[in-house]
Amino acid sequence: MSDTIIKPETRSFNVEEVRADFPILSREVYGKPLVYLDNAASAQKPRSVIDAISSTFDHEYANVHRGLHYLSNEATQKFEDAREKVRAFINAPTENEVIFTGGATDAINLVASSFGEDNIGEGDEIILSQLEHHSNIVPWHYLRERKGAVLKWVPVLDNGELDLEAYEAAFSPRTKMVALTHMSNALGSITPIKEMIRIAHEKGALVLVDACQSVVHLPIDVQDLDCDFLAFSGHKLYGPTGIGVLYGKADVLRSMRPYRGGGEMIKVVEMDKITYADIPHRFEAGTPAIAEAIAIGAAVDYVTSIDRVGALNHENELLAYATQRMSELNAVRIIGTTPNKGSIISFVVEGAHPHDISTVIDRAGVALRAGHHCAQPVMDRFGVPATSRVSFAMYNRKDEVDTFIEALSSAIRFFE
Ligand SMILES: Cc1ncc(COP(=O)(O)O)c(C=O)c1O
Repeated sequence: MSDTIIKPETRSFNVEEVRADFPILSREVYGKPLVYLDNAASAQKPRSVIDAISSTFDHEYANVHRGLHYLSNEATQKFEDAREKVRAFINAPTENEVIFTGGATDAINLVASSFGEDNIGEGDEIILSQLEHHSNIVPWHYLRERKGAVLKWVPVLDNGELDLEAYEAAFSPRTKMVALTHMSNALGSITPIKEMIRIAHEKGALVLVDACQSVVHLPIDVQDLDCDFLAFSGHKLYGPTGIGVLYGKADVLRSMRPYRGGGEMIKVVEMDKITYADIPHRFEAGTPAIAEAIAIGAAVDYVTSIDRVGALNHENELLAYATQRMSELNAVRIIGTTPNKGSIISFVVEGAHPHDISTVIDRAGVALRAGHHCAQPVMDRFGVPATSRVSFAMYNRKDEVDTFIEALSSAIRFFE
């Protein structure tokens, strides 16, 4: 793990201390303690993030970048401080390369639209993997539909890893863009992203990394990865909804025209001419999500205040323990068995629909997800319409795995 994200004041990892930071974890559902195992969909929020939002509205709220008055300057300072925190968190060279978006989906749409409009035409190729979330598929399909671009797919092996030989073979002189997940939200597979970026660059293509899941668990250093773009959302990183981040290399971003126009993103607007502001503001048209941006800064502060190696080890222990206990239940098939995976387990139970399984488990107070996880290509790959999915955060405990296994066992008996 990179030292850059562990501050000197980092506290050692202690799951009980972490849990105490998350008010919602002490509530009950159906009269039972909440066991929240739907973290890959959205994580719960620590008190410091909740306070950052309310204190913005209580004390320092005004529109940013526009006012000459005290409050506006203060809000602008906090907003830009949050950008700097995110910059440091992903080790971007400059703050200009950190664009606040509405989320990862918004960030990927920005790249597909702005970069795609001028750089991807008929017959040009975009490489995606079968592991991708729909957010990293549909914006590229638009370029296929509207401009005649060609989508090429990296297949998934039986254990949930990407087929790297097929990846290398997918390139051609027409390959313009490679858009890949760093960690699959559906299976948990962690892709060898640095190596894949190196290969793409050797072949002359740019790379967008979907770091929505990985940024929560793994250190991200965009300079070390050498990615051209990287996207993630605030709400999976213990931060608020409605805010996300697009990192882009400065020269690439500066070569792109904005796809959304409005206030804040221009230098001059005349009757017959416009000139654009410099990055990042060129891509931040309109009033941004101010409190949410400040709170994503608080989320980054929170995550970096904890020993992330300790948190990751803890999550990996939960993953190993849950995997072992689930494997002892004969009716369960785990999809995605590579050892290179994060703390996500997708599974199906023979003879029962994932929705039914998850509904029964919910009654035990255990929140998990069922469905295609916005990743239909990988569901098709494994011949299932849907899976149930448990996903761990650093605040989950071993006894919560036991509660889940008990609930899963009852669900299996129920549908036998
Ligand atoms: C891997 C991955 N990519 C993209 C997204 C989309 O994120 P958002 O809905 O926050 O824009 C998600 C959300 O589940 C995801 O897990």
